[in-house]
Amino acid sequence: MKIVHTIAELRAQLRGQLRTAFVPTMGNLHEGHLSLMRVAAKHGDPVVASIFVNRLQFGPHEDFDRYPRTLQDDAKKLEAEGVYVVFAPDEKELYPEPQEFRVRPPEDLGDILEGEFRPGFFVGVSTVVLKLFQCVSPQVAVFGKKDYQQQMIIRRMSQQFALPTTIVSAPTIRDQDGLALSSRNQYLSPEERQEAPRLYELLRRTSDGLENLQAKGLMELDALKRLETEAQDELKAHGWAPDYFAIRRASDLKPFNQESLSRLWTSASSQALKEPQMVILAAARLGQTRLIDNLEVGETEGLRT
Ligand code: PAF
Repeated sequence: MKIVHTIAELRAQLRGQLRTAFVPTMGNLHEGHLSLMRVAAKHGDPVVASIFVNRLQFGPHEDFDRYPRTLQDDAKKLEAEGVYVVFAPDEKELYPEPQEFRVRPPEDLGDILEGEFRPGFFVGVSTVVLKLFQCVSPQVAVFGKKDYQQQMIIRRMSQQFALPTTIVSAPTIRDQDGLALSSRNQYLSPEERQEAPRLYELLRRTSDGLENLQAKGLMELDALKRLETEAQDELKAHGWAPDYFAIRRASDLKPFNQESLSRLWTSASSQALKEPQMVILAAARLGQTRLIDNLEVGETEGLRT
């Protein structure tokens, strides 16, 4: 495995490769990232990973300087996964001058949910991903569903700019107790770590609640709102500070209105839906650590008939 630090070296290494599968990361790799490498290997060859802590996507109160840089450890893990090249540029390489041209996702997708609580985050992500795509020229790029909104935005960006890169989404990897793997889990105290699976538990319970409503023909907007409020209240009662716990359309993350909800259930009961129609997304702070997670409701029986 080669570790390259410049765009020129990277392009030299990848010259003539037409089926490159790419996984962008910010390093500090865990099993969740490594699962993305395995998905990449199924979709292309060679697999290229990048490690770059992207200042553009950090807010003023988010600690860019404290983000763990663990290149040597990461490289060992990537080598064991059979990754061909790791692209690990420094800031001067990727941003030799202030990055004045930026990619701005549409407001109704980029400024909601994560974008509302982390202003500018998706501008930073989209900009660096477009730039990394230009460096790697991948045929395929893999993004985890753990960052549900991110993978959706990157897919739309790729479509709208007619990029020759297919975006593949990979499933969330969880610990035995359901907690989604995340670099941030390392900041949880032992007590917080015990409490943390509640987020996923509530996603599951809300999903079950939606199935029940459907089974009883009670799928009303008020009932959805009640489920969201109950979940937020339970989080608060256990010491969490929720940013959002939201049931959204899986196609575009927009909230439902009664009309779109009725349409959904009419089609859900009349045909076998291939794609999940609803997703529940949550973000909440536990102590100093902000966790996010989500669940596609169509995965569970009942809603997809
Ligand atoms: O998901 C991440 O780790 C980052 O947002 C990404 C996609 C590597 C861009 O910096």
